Amino acid sequence: MILGARAPALAVLTGSFQIRREDNQKMNRREFNIGLMVGSGAFAFHRSAFAKQPQLGVNGARLNEHLKALSEFGKNPQGGVSRVAYSEADRLGREYVTGLMLAAKLNVTVDAAGNIIGRRAGSDPRLKPILFGSHIDSVPEGGNYDGDVGSMGAIEVAQTLAENNVVTRHPIEVVIFQNEEGGLIGSAAMSGALTEKELDNVSRSGKTIREGIKFIGGDPAKLSAVKREKGSIAAYLELHIEQGGTLEAEKIDIGVVEGIVGINWWDVTIEGFANHAGTTAMNNRQDALLAAARFIEAVNRVATSVPGRQVGTVGRIQALPGAPNVIPGKVILSLELRDLDSAKIEMLYQKIRAEADQIAQASKVKFDFKEINVNIPAPTDSRIRAIIDESAKELGLTTKVMPSGAGHDAQDMARLGPVGMIFVPSIGGISHSPKEFSRPKDIENGANVLLGAVMRVDKGSV
Ligand code: GLV
Ligand code: MN
Ligand code: MN
Repeated sequence: MILGARAPALAVLTGSFQIRREDNQKMNRREFNIGLMVGSGAFAFHRSAFAKQPQLGVNGARLNEHLKALSEFGKNPQGGVSRVAYSEADRLGREYVTGLMLAAKLNVTVDAAGNIIGRRAGSDPRLKPILFGSHIDSVPEGGNYDGDVGSMGAIEVAQTLAENNVVTRHPIEVVIFQNEEGGLIGSAAMSGALTEKELDNVSRSGKTIREGIKFIGGDPAKLSAVKREKGSIAAYLELHIEQGGTLEAEKIDIGVVEGIVGINWWDVTIEGFANHAGTTAMNNRQDALLAAARFIEAVNRVATSVPGRQVGTVGRIQALPGAPNVIPGKVILSLELRDLDSAKIEMLYQKIRAEADQIAQASKVKFDFKEINVNIPAPTDSRIRAIIDESAKELGLTTKVMPSGAGHDAQDMARLGPVGMIFVPSIGGISHSPKEFSRPKDIENGANVLLGAVMRVDKGSV
């Protein structure tokens, strides 16, 4: 039996999972414990409690090496990566990740939506699977930690279980969701929320979602096969970087996520009139870009007009035809609103629409709003929050219950069953940037908390 020689002297995992010995199944508990002590010098042994199993711990050095290796796919000269979904870098990154999953003794398949799923059977075939994972696609000019930490962390947990011959009761599934950054596409497919219409949206790679799914080995005609039923999973757990600065500022090790914000996206098209920039008087223009500037200011004003944590952003803009000597006749921009409460998002949206009507009149332009994506707000499961907290505390780590201002595949998975999320500190609170950084030790801590949480869910605490 291989034991975690590099395991930190941390948690004691109790419970009903089995540790399978290849050499002698009949060994009594005392012999078993002595075997542990001899077999692994670094393994902490709980003398006080013979009834307890020894600690399992991930290999932090290996986990951080895997993260570094993944950062080579789509690497940018200024640091970080551009590994947008359905790009060549994404495809190669997925190949790398598949290799790691196979090495972790998972049965790896790509579902029809293009999600990579690594499954291992449990000892009780009647039990539902425990899912854990994240995503490896990035925003353009993103960092090396968003999604990657949770993906590599999940694989590390599976590998740790495999090399310690731990057989869980439930099947486990490590899931690397495709195109998280483009609107939680892979998890939307798994929860049955991906619509036919969305497949025609053009992703950051330039490919439609439909083309993208084919590019990564899925089959957009068979998406119904990917959909899982409500109640079909035991739980979904996701490790992620915080992407804000609270944990670092308050010197807290682990964030226990209480809920994930809803995110709504629209494409806003403003139609003006393209005309000569030299001969058209200032009072005779239908300048779509000027109207867009007023609109952007209005979004900010509306988003800050009421108390709360809601946010509103215009993050992409294109002015056409796009020449210094032509008054812009058309602008296409994105509008994004986020809050933990969908009713508040709707209220802000209606206010923004009213502002747009006023701008349209004053600037002699027309506004058109097209809904692109809706991610519903999702609370996490209180039992899983307790399990995460317990797993962290047992490792001597401090915790804080906090909301997630970023979107995550966990919010789609919340349609299927109980979910929980574990945050680790983001240095400087920077994310979606090449300057994104999380300390190796924090990443290792997060993966150990994930391991403890998976084992507790497996024990039947949820
Ligand atoms: C996902 O990273 C999001 O919050 O945009
Ligand atoms: Mn993410
Ligand atoms: Mn992200």
